[in-house]
Amino acid sequence: MASGSGDDEAKARGGSWRLVGPAARLSATRCRLVYCSLGRDADVCLFHVRGEFFAMDARCAHSGGPLCEGDIEEADGVLQVFCPWHDYDFDLRTGKSGTSLQQQVYEVKLEDGNVFVKHAGRLSLEPLPAEQKES
Ligand code: FES
Repeated sequence: MASGSGDDEAKARGGSWRLVGPAARLSATRCRLVYCSLGRDADVCLFHVRGEFFAMDARCAHSGGPLCEGDIEEADGVLQVFCPWHDYDFDLRTGKSGTSLQQQVYEVKLEDGNVFVKHAGRLSLEPLPAEQKES
């Protein structure tokens, strides 16, 4: 890929708005795994809780547990996902944990009925073929 491409610029700025899909479809499930062109470690969980979307890295900052499979609870007005592997908590909005860990979160916006996530890599609801992955 030539330098100065849109994706290179996106990385330099910390991400571009990436279309994920229709809000009506994505709001039907509590969490969707969204595949990233940067590889499995960059896949994203798109949560839909109480009418709001949240996005964070899909693999737990502790040891890589699948956060899309975690329980979601509210405590003192804070929505948290609990990792299914060791039960660490992560704030859906900030990624902060009661432990010292920090999960990467991403901005989400709705536009024309579609959900967009600000991310450095291309995002897809379907697994990306290997040739479309970026190193
Ligand atoms: S892998 Fe998530 S808490 Fe350990």
